[in-house]
Amino acid sequence: MRWFFRCIGLAWVLCTALPAEAQESGPKDNIAGPYVPTPWVIVDEMLKLADIRADDVVYDLGSGDGRLVITAAKRYKAHGVGIELQPELVELANTGAKKEEVADRVKFIQGDLFETDIREATVVTLYLLPRFVTRLVPRFLAEMRPGTRIVSHDYPLVPWPPDKDVSMEVPEKEFISGTTWTRLYYYVVPARVGGVWELSLPKPLARAPLSLEVNQEPHFVGGLASDGKSQDYLRDVKVNGERISFGLLYHGRMMAFEGRAAGETMSGEVSAKGVKGPWTARRKGPAQTSR
Ligand SMILES: C[S@@+](CC[C@H](N)C(=O)[O-])C[C@H]1O[C@@H](n2cnc3c(N)ncnc32)[C@H](O)[C@@H]1O
Repeated sequence: MRWFFRCIGLAWVLCTALPAEAQESGPKDNIAGPYVPTPWVIVDEMLKLADIRADDVVYDLGSGDGRLVITAAKRYKAHGVGIELQPELVELANTGAKKEEVADRVKFIQGDLFETDIREATVVTLYLLPRFVTRLVPRFLAEMRPGTRIVSHDYPLVPWPPDKDVSMEVPEKEFISGTTWTRLYYYVVPARVGGVWELSLPKPLARAPLSLEVNQEPHFVGGLASDGKSQDYLRDVKVNGERISFGLLYHGRMMAFEGRAAGETMSGEVSAKGVKGPWTARRKGPAQTSR
């Protein structure tokens, strides 16, 4: 019961700390969470999970005091951008960046994360309320470069299943969320492969190109290959960043495809019993948009 009252108290303090526009909850509905800094032990774990490198550009959406971006720059030499609605927090983050001597590698933008261009990011971190995390999913899938890593603190990007998740016990979290249990969710933005393609295979596998129709949803990728006479389902389609793999049983022969998707083309190697060779696919129509 003690933690319940503590949480009520904390929520009240955090809400009164929000700017006036936030408290009015006007028609904009863009206040994605109060300011609750991620405990340091979780900051470390989030950056480890994202596997930050020096060539990364880390965006923290709702960056608070800038701790994720500043730590990524200091520890991993990455570049970083924080987007934060509250000007006082942007100021605090800028002061922190100077103190940690990373001001030349990080930038804090005072603005609305829902209206700021984030396509430059190679890594995105977030600690926002669940319905706002979910609201970002279509944008992540439509706009972010394939291979962009996303780590979300506490809330999954429903309905997108995580590529990995990590649970940990963090005593300080009891004060924040009423439990010490914390979960981090890791995602890799998949290439946009939904749509219709013309698939060319080595001659021994198919004399003429096949038509490939791929349906890509956040939680599922599937498709059909057709030669105009017969249709066969793609098996076990996996898309990880730019990498794609699937199986196809065509004319009684099981073929395994491995390759890369890059915008309007896909290519790679196909292997079947006794045959191995290159495959290519060219987009025939517009990319699928509904996902
Ligand atoms: C839970 S805090 C997380 C702070 C920081 N990311 C961390 O993990 O320590 C959420 C932050 O998002 C900010 N925020 C909420 N809605 C926002 C929006 N639409 N645009 C930018 N920042 C927003 C809040 O002001 C708050 O600082």
